[in-house]
Amino acid sequence: MATAEKKRPRGSGGEEKRPSRKEILGRKNAVGELIKKAVAMKDHLAQFPGFHKFERNGLLVYLESGHGNQLPLLTRKYIQNLLKVNMEEPYGIEWPSEEKVKRRQMVAPEARYIFVRQSSNAFSTKNIMKQGHNSTHEACNEDRLIGFVHYRFVLEEDVPVVYVYELQVEPSAQGKGLGKFLMELIELIACKSQMGAVMLTVQKANNLAMAFYMKLRYVISSTSPSRVDPLIGLEKNYKILCKTFESEAKSKFELKMDPGLRAIGFGVEVLHISARSNGADGVLGDETA
Ligand SMILES: CC(C)(COP(=O)(O)OP(=O)(O)OC[C@H]1O[C@@H](n2cnc3c(N)ncnc32)[C@H](O)[C@@H]1OP(=O)(O)O)[C@@H](O)C(=O)NCCC(=O)NCCS
Repeated sequence: MATAEKKRPRGSGGEEKRPSRKEILGRKNAVGELIKKAVAMKDHLAQFPGFHKFERNGLLVYLESGHGNQLPLLTRKYIQNLLKVNMEEPYGIEWPSEEKVKRRQMVAPEARYIFVRQSSNAFSTKNIMKQGHNSTHEACNEDRLIGFVHYRFVLEEDVPVVYVYELQVEPSAQGKGLGKFLMELIELIACKSQMGAVMLTVQKANNLAMAFYMKLRYVISSTSPSRVDPLIGLEKNYKILCKTFESEAKSKFELKMDPGLRAIGFGVEVLHISARSNGADGVLGDETA
């Protein structure tokens, strides 16, 4: 048992003492302050110099922060395009309506971003040729985005968490460790901001993303439809995954189900994900990755 749990006050019979109204309010205020503080921070990436650059597997890229309500037009277009390229297939017929939701979410003031930019000092003759100097080359900066994470600080079941709304890497840059690097950064941001967990929603049809998150040791949250009620789980096309960092988040998101359900629920679901063939169904709520 974790130290914090051992210290929790108990009644004379050993059962846990119910918190008073004052304690509950105090906790609520403290949690609200944590979220406010995290949201007020302008640049979360600045705290982690080791994550400003990623150089691995032939990929050299730079990370930078962004805010939903300050995105330049070209960046908004880029996000929309990449979402379409990566997500149209797993969403299937739901894509047109989901695309609208995502366009709204993308520019919300609560939306925080980490962008991945590839910088290449390529040489181009294009401009020079236009000017008639076709014998020389001129250096031009061809920086371009190749992926991003959209995350927010929110309350889930009264626990402050980082919710990953989107994690998107361009197909040409996938499989090189960048997705994992971005999630590691998000986890560090969550811990540094004293959030209890990182949470996200994945479509059941998105087998590749499921396998990726399982590899990163994310588990199906007890708030995921299938774990709230197996019948509801069958109706829904998404699962909620989490990684927890403290005991309250763990008890709310990982352990909050009766032992019988846990025995069938979790193990079978994980196996089911890796064995599942690619479907094309998908209805997601507001919080989607
Ligand atoms: C899912 C996604 C973000 C993963 O990013 P990525 O950069 O391709 O993944 P990485 O190269 O960092 O892989 C990290 C680890 O996960 C594993 N992994 C990645 N994809 C996997 C897959 N499909 N199956 C099994 N393992 C996988 C890698 O082998 C690697 O393991 P290692 O650390 O032992 O080498 C990326 O593929 C993507 O953008 N997909 C399309 C959009 C999407 O589905 N986003 C998620 C929405 S919920």
